[in-house]
Amino acid sequence: MGELLRRYWMPIGAVAELEDRPTKPVRVLGENLVVFKDKTGNYGLVDRHCPHRRADLSYGWVEECGLRCHYHGWLWDHTGRCLQQPFEEMAHPQARFKDRVRIKSYPVEAKAGLVWAYMGPPPAPLVPTWEPFTWQNGFVQIVFSEVPCNWFQCHENSIDPVHFEWLHSNWSRALGGANGDRSPTHLKVGFEEFEYGFIYRRVLEGQSEQDELWTVGRCCLWPNCLFTGGHFEWRVPIDDANMLSVGWFFDRVPNDMEPYRQERIPYWTSPIKDSLTDRWITSHVMNQDFVAWVGQGTVADRTQEHLGESDRGVIMMRRRILEDAERVTKGEEPKGLIRDPEKNRCVRLPIIGRDFFVKGSSRVESEISRQRTPGLALRKDFPFLTGQPEEVRAAYRRAMGLV
Ligand code: FES
Ligand SMILES: [Fe+2]
Repeated sequence: MGELLRRYWMPIGAVAELEDRPTKPVRVLGENLVVFKDKTGNYGLVDRHCPHRRADLSYGWVEECGLRCHYHGWLWDHTGRCLQQPFEEMAHPQARFKDRVRIKSYPVEAKAGLVWAYMGPPPAPLVPTWEPFTWQNGFVQIVFSEVPCNWFQCHENSIDPVHFEWLHSNWSRALGGANGDRSPTHLKVGFEEFEYGFIYRRVLEGQSEQDELWTVGRCCLWPNCLFTGGHFEWRVPIDDANMLSVGWFFDRVPNDMEPYRQERIPYWTSPIKDSLTDRWITSHVMNQDFVAWVGQGTVADRTQEHLGESDRGVIMMRRRILEDAERVTKGEEPKGLIRDPEKNRCVRLPIIGRDFFVKGSSRVESEISRQRTPGLALRKDFPFLTGQPEEVRAAYRRAMGLV
């Protein structure tokens, strides 16, 4: 499975994060690495340990070109070359020892405020320019969480429409002490494959097959992302037992706040456990997801499951991912890679309420659309993850005209 995932770019950090601190230790796909941005602006992702005597390069410092080890000063560039070995060059200037050592390195790119890594064989495909990355007049924020379970059970949730009704709507009501009244139930679900993943559709009580929740649907993006229209959630494998959740959230400013230009995309890390009770946090939408996923065990035991009609999408996706892994073993291309720059100028996806995000709306119109379709309205607070820093909340409220 790792070989399959290595064919895709993975978000591993935020652009603003490396502006704040130019080195960051990361663990991705079971490898301990350091991502950095040098003073020229090159992004690099290299082995955590210096090839000289294994010091931890996340404590190194960046220079004009490259990352310098704090132990004996060897300098590594973003392509893995050794540029300097201060004492060796003094002792044996002719030996050019530095030309004979390299550090493991992977390509990195910045896009949409995220820092992306490609850990597979060349040639790397393009970092997808998903349509929302091109939208204007939005307030974007990036949120990380580390979830101690396998990435794939998290991703199975990306094609599970019914959980929304229970894990989010009804459980929130129960947690809030509501006495049994329930949210609209699912009457029908549908799943189908498309070029970049799967689409899931639903008809809720009070709606019909004419509503966008059915006609457009939402996306389970290949191979490890949920895309709901206004936000992305990547499930990036740290290793088999841990997953980095990377959320990218777009909130359209109301028409009366246009034009809005965001100077810097903020990032923050959301806690998942309540330190007082030592229990998982349940208050926000994605925290509720996390509780379900870690509750399945570190790696969910699929032999103990009893799958039903609501799990048809999960079954389709499991089948496809095994086929894709097989394809990669045979040296073939897996699903959904983008290599054509023309196509990658803006990759369109099914988006419920596209006009809401692209053209925006007045406050009144957005209230009306909220009643019909969740997610299409001006939000006062951030509902997805707990722990939003006050400065991000304040910046959001300024952008939205809520102050
Ligand atoms: S361990 Fe890095 S320079 Fe010696
Ligand atoms: Fe969910």
